Amino acid sequence: MKKELEQLRDEFLSAVKDVADAAGLEDLRVEYLGRKGKLAGIMKQLPSLAEDLRKDMGSFANEVKAAIETAFTEAHDSLHEIDRESRREVEWLDITMPGTQPKTGHLHLVTQAIEEVNNIFARLGFVLVRHPEVEWDLYAFESLNMPKDHPARDEWETFFIADGEKQMVGENGKVVLTPHTSNGQVREMEKGNMPIRMININKCYRRQSDVSHAPMFHQFEGLMIDKNVTIAELKGTIDFFAKNFFGADREIRLRPFHFRFTEPSFEIDITCDVCKGTGGDESAVCRLCKDGWLELGGAGMVHPNVLKAGNLDPDEYTGFAFGWGVERTMMMKAGLNIADIRTLYRNDLRFLRQF
Ligand code: DAH
Repeated sequence: MKKELEQLRDEFLSAVKDVADAAGLEDLRVEYLGRKGKLAGIMKQLPSLAEDLRKDMGSFANEVKAAIETAFTEAHDSLHEIDRESRREVEWLDITMPGTQPKTGHLHLVTQAIEEVNNIFARLGFVLVRHPEVEWDLYAFESLNMPKDHPARDEWETFFIADGEKQMVGENGKVVLTPHTSNGQVREMEKGNMPIRMININKCYRRQSDVSHAPMFHQFEGLMIDKNVTIAELKGTIDFFAKNFFGADREIRLRPFHFRFTEPSFEIDITCDVCKGTGGDESAVCRLCKDGWLELGGAGMVHPNVLKAGNLDPDEYTGFAFGWGVERTMMMKAGLNIADIRTLYRNDLRFLRQF
């Protein structure tokens, strides 16, 4: 057994000299020192030896093992050193060289507009919220004074959510993609934190796709509810927004309109930037507005039925609401005439980098 051990040691010591890389060295380690390796094979004889002989052979085997391990460690270290040397040649770095500037991006222009809208209303104490995009019929329509099967709903070109082939229906009615941010009104009232000054900015979805409609777009919805809120507050708030967003010289007007969820309801117009509200002169009408006014969007005093749906007493509370398209409002400000509004969402960097 002593002979075998000596032979094993010499074999290893010569083999380790020929090893060229870390993988080869590892193979060698397993072959000799592994659990089923050559050394372990010889050691199996130990128990069958006479006791004093067993002692001697045991300690000799340990010497052999230590010699092999030392040789292994040396080989391992020198391979590592070689590796480092060669890497040093390839991977050197000139730290005095000027760096490469990382490409800087910027926010999408719709995101920029959302931030700006939010900042203006924040100064009036309106709190930014976001209510669900996948919504119950209850919040998207019914609680907004639009009973089931009411024809007014048709205007919203709604997407319905199906489970397989079947329309998804739950305790609050059908499941839809919210077609407007007005769904946040009753949801906000249900929180029960009075008074309310919310600005709900979110994605909306409608089954429309043409040069002036994208099936996904954004709206911002303002809602203020408190005791004794009147049209004066509505007008003041929107005037504040118009002057801060569009410019100090812009005027607004309220034009009577009809929505189911407000009473009275208005369309808000703003003076045209091109003709400064004149509508043109004797020689020509304004090319943009024709009559001095541009339409911003809808607004009104919250309908008593909507307050009731939000568990509020219409004799105690009143409020106003407005809901406008972010994309449209933004384009009006910049005087942007984007030939196809859907370009905003095609992720073409050549287009987006311009803004
Ligand atoms: N939700 C309406 C729409 O999408 C817009 C609107 C009109 C919102 C009047 C309001 C409002 O809050 O008072 O067409």
